[in-house]
Amino acid sequence: MKIGVPIEVKNNESRVSITPAGVFELTKRKHHVYVQTQAGLASGFEDLDYIEAGAEILSSLDAVYEKAEMIVKVKEPIEKEYALVREGQIIFTYFHFASSQALTLAMIASKAVCIAYETVEDEDGSLPLLTPMSEVAGRMATQQGAKYLEKPIRGKGILLGGVPGVPPGKVLVLGAGVVGIQAAKMAAGLGAHVTIFDINMKRLRYVNDIMPSHVVTAFSNEYNIRKHIKTADLIIGAVLIPGAKAPKLITRDMLKDMTPGTVMVDVAVDQGGCFETTRPTTHEDPTYIIDDVVHYCVTNMPGAVPYTSTLALTNVTFPYVLDIAQKGWKEACNSDPSLQKGLSLDHGKVICKEILKEMVV
Ligand SMILES: NC(=O)c1ccc[n+]([C@@H]2O[C@H](COP(=O)([O-])OP(=O)(O)OC[C@H]3O[C@@H](n4cnc5c(N)ncnc54)[C@H](O)[C@@H]3O)[C@@H](O)[C@H]2O)c1
Repeated sequence: MKIGVPIEVKNNESRVSITPAGVFELTKRKHHVYVQTQAGLASGFEDLDYIEAGAEILSSLDAVYEKAEMIVKVKEPIEKEYALVREGQIIFTYFHFASSQALTLAMIASKAVCIAYETVEDEDGSLPLLTPMSEVAGRMATQQGAKYLEKPIRGKGILLGGVPGVPPGKVLVLGAGVVGIQAAKMAAGLGAHVTIFDINMKRLRYVNDIMPSHVVTAFSNEYNIRKHIKTADLIIGAVLIPGAKAPKLITRDMLKDMTPGTVMVDVAVDQGGCFETTRPTTHEDPTYIIDDVVHYCVTNMPGAVPYTSTLALTNVTFPYVLDIAQKGWKEACNSDPSLQKGLSLDHGKVICKEILKEMVV
């Protein structure tokens, strides 16, 4: 199969969809891989790395779309790519169709075969192509929070781990899912005192079993949250109710109960945020302050660490890329129920009905 790896054109997106290791595996099996020049640069891969792995470098985005039977990307195609997508071409990437009707209509019109990373689903209901990005965001949440607690960036001026003779900082993590557990683990590693909240007792039992004793669990309700925020230094929002907006667990009036310089990191910002005062921010301007409380609400946190994120993402996407290349998309989907769930559009026909729910008709 002819496989294309374009440069990601979405603002601030530095990941690349296939690494030289992936190219090596594909070309070894006689597939042909076209990589747009400099596609891997921001993730640490030079054109020469791709050439040595067997890829052919192309100079333009148009050329990659023109030659490839399957385009493997990271983010959804943006407007200038719509016209490049051809009938029958396979596009394998994150689409998030629900957030853009224009994208959905463009892909239907193109008659392409669209397979969405975010809806590939394992038997147990987990989303294997989303999990690594939650892992990155969770670990980053603590790292960012620790940084913004420093005084020059208007935090409290607290070192999360403390030092001998000075107690460590207090971290609250709202949600004990993938993001929450990774955030708690990093905070615990720094030596902070961590309290992790959830409404799912199974998750709390699991956290209680695996975490060290300075990570404690709490049932998530307004009373408990109000009590803990008074002494918290860093609050991390990591809740998710699948298919719904995040519940507002920290309301505007609660900010006055926090001490000045408290930092709040809302990882759940992409689902509307779990703080009432959350508004989406970017890596260029990640924070803002309300009532002396620092808010960090970046919507694409993994984008800031493309070296790690590219490897974490391609570790899980590549087996599917290889399968599609070897068998063709139809046979790959028919033989793998997880991948089948990712099939959103087949030559303009909507397969994943969830897409239609968000359409304005
Ligand atoms: N900003 C970013 O760059 C970025 C990156 C990755 C993921 N995310 C987002 O992070 C959020 C969390 O993702 P995840 O993978 O950890 O989800 P997850 O499903 O693994 O975990 C969510 C947890 O929230 C819990 N929860 C639900 N309601 C709650 C409540 N009222 N109080 C406390 N806990 C509650 C659930 O029981 C679950 O354990 C999602 O919105 C996801 O989209 C953002």
